[in-house]
Amino acid sequence: MSGPASRPPGAGGEVTRSAPAKVNLFLAVGARRTDGYHDLVTVFEAVPLTDLVTVRLRPAGTGEPTVRVSAFWSPGAPAASHPGAPALPQDLDNLAGRAAQAFIEAVGGRGSGLPPVAIEVTIEKRIPAGAGLGGGSSDAAATLLALQELCGRPLDGRTLRRVAASLGSDVPFFLSGGRAVGRSRGELLTLLPRAPRLHLVLALPPVTLATAEVYRRFDELSGAGPDPATLATRIGPGLPAGGDSPAPAGPRERETALEAFLRALAGGEAGAVARCLRNDLQAAALSLRPEVGEMLRALVQAGCLGALVSGSGASVFGLAAGEEEAAGAAARASSALPPALVGRVAFVPVVSPAWEVRDDPAEGARSGSGEAPHTLKPG
Ligand code: C5P
Repeated sequence: MSGPASRPPGAGGEVTRSAPAKVNLFLAVGARRTDGYHDLVTVFEAVPLTDLVTVRLRPAGTGEPTVRVSAFWSPGAPAASHPGAPALPQDLDNLAGRAAQAFIEAVGGRGSGLPPVAIEVTIEKRIPAGAGLGGGSSDAAATLLALQELCGRPLDGRTLRRVAASLGSDVPFFLSGGRAVGRSRGELLTLLPRAPRLHLVLALPPVTLATAEVYRRFDELSGAGPDPATLATRIGPGLPAGGDSPAPAGPRERETALEAFLRALAGGEAGAVARCLRNDLQAAALSLRPEVGEMLRALVQAGCLGALVSGSGASVFGLAAGEEEAAGAAARASSALPPALVGRVAFVPVVSPAWEVRDDPAEGARSGSGEAPHTLKPG
């Protein structure tokens, strides 16, 4: 997964890392804070749909460190087949470029930790953008981890997490990957055991959603006041998507619902987990992109036990009872789509999490199955 071992930064070198996508199995959202973010409680799950991030470091003689990012769609990536696949941001417009720059600044820039270097980041994209799958955040985290490796780990774990959190709410999660509870705006993490493995079907969308826009719609919908009749935004068997959002979830309600979710998860029974799936942003995503509701319905009709928008969307995932069921549901789901979407949604069965959890960049610990969860806070 990763390239050569650490080396002094002056020597240059190259590291390639897989950058996984994530889904949010659970997302309870509170009210907007004064800083514009929303307090939330979420369960992140890394899934084996990956970008490939290569970071090259070259000595640059004199002058300031430079950063170049070149991102391109992997041939055959589901997103690339959509005519509407967005152009990928390059250089400092790409979050990975801003990650490299933030890394340089954290190390001390010119004159301290790093000698003048040219940093080149190449990103082969498979994770659709604007999909709620965290692709850009994951690329940024992979860039930070690769630079740590290439430069002899100049940043301690706390600083690395602070830099990650400054780039985006989901970036700290991708430093560890695996499965974790996220709190505050998503950056305070408690790593979870990886068992049980979940069998998911990702539905990759022909449309995109911007996270900030979805949160704005959440505010609009939930500002109308709580309506107990429309609190259910989970899509279970035969259950259509709710049109309204619940009121913002208070801290106690978020934690109580999380506890129920984690109990179901620990029980290991997929049906029970499906009944506890929750995403408070789902109604907002559906109201902005009704096609997303058709994807949810297609997954349920194809035999998934439940289906949910991931994060702010527009991607959707279904939970299946096992590997065969997931493969079967993925194969059937296309035929359950309305004609306008046939051939435009890619259904990808994944077993999650399917690979090792990365080293915890702070403590060097692993969040393996059965180990006590531990909390990671940015400095
Ligand atoms: O942190 P990130 O840059 O990914 O967030 C993008 C946007 O999503 C923020 O500017 C904010 O509008 C919204 N957001 C939020 N509450 C969160 C996370 C994101 O309101 N917890």
